[in-house]
Amino acid sequence: MKLARCAIIAAAIAAVALAGCGNKEAAKTSATKQFVIGMSQCNLGEPWRVQMNNDVKTAAAKHPEITMLFKDAQNNTTTQQSQVKEFVDQRVNLIIISPKEALPLTKPVADAVSAGIPVIVLDRKVEGDKYTCFIGGDNVKIGEEAGKFMAKLLGGKGNIVELKGLMTSTPAAERHDGFMKGIKGSQIKIIYAVDCQWLEPNARREMASALSRFPGPKDIDAVYAHNDPSAHGAYTAAKLEGNGREKTIKFIGIDALPHEGVAYVRDGILTATFQYPTGGAEAIETALKILNGEKAPKNVTLGTRIFTKENVGKGGEAL
Ligand code: FRU
Repeated sequence: MKLARCAIIAAAIAAVALAGCGNKEAAKTSATKQFVIGMSQCNLGEPWRVQMNNDVKTAAAKHPEITMLFKDAQNNTTTQQSQVKEFVDQRVNLIIISPKEALPLTKPVADAVSAGIPVIVLDRKVEGDKYTCFIGGDNVKIGEEAGKFMAKLLGGKGNIVELKGLMTSTPAAERHDGFMKGIKGSQIKIIYAVDCQWLEPNARREMASALSRFPGPKDIDAVYAHNDPSAHGAYTAAKLEGNGREKTIKFIGIDALPHEGVAYVRDGILTATFQYPTGGAEAIETALKILNGEKAPKNVTLGTRIFTKENVGKGGEAL
């Protein structure tokens, strides 16, 4: 009797287990936590930022538990501040931000962290350390490598124009500081330097001014531009408004997107470009760690590569 009762209980347990098995997939999906990630991109007017969003999208698409919400701040700091606040009010699970400027985005990021929402800062930094993780390239190193390359290219001596990125964003300040380190000890002189805010039309206009301010055929030896769009703008000015001076001036840029900077090197427009990875894939990888309660590093530094005519065919060279 006792044995029979045991058998019945055992059978019942087995039946429940079997039913469970049949529903395993459904059970699994409802048990997998779903995450909403809000991403605030400072602008989508430049190819490099479109690439960053695509890299984030591609990486997130491999994880069905992630839903991405993208916002474009259209190069407006106030808009971007509001976007971070909106994500906090919406109670997203995590925020990714690629901030336009450091100082004005520092408080919104810190407020989100205080509200319990982890924030990954991508590419451009905020001030202080009230963020969850920063992911980006080493802009001081990139600038320094560009400086060393320039010094070698010009045989240690020459006059250059520096077309800076937006100086209230950290990559511009760091690319400048690094470059100064790289040319230290050489006789390279920066004869014209200006903030072009990362934008090609500004760089083209500023280069046209530099060309008329220094009109001699040997007055300008090279241009150091903080990004490839600016380097391209400078080249265009020299070619179209400088009576063919693009033939005597060398142009160096940063970013090295395959269809932008790398193509310019292949076409002989730029002498060199330095890769600035978007960090999109790394942002998703880190976001998942944070969301799953694993330990994530405070800072993730991405590497760089140099592309020149000599190495472009084999994918550049790691630095
Ligand atoms: C795009 C961009 C890139 C540059 C980066 C620096 O907005 O200007 O060309 O490398 O931002 O943050």
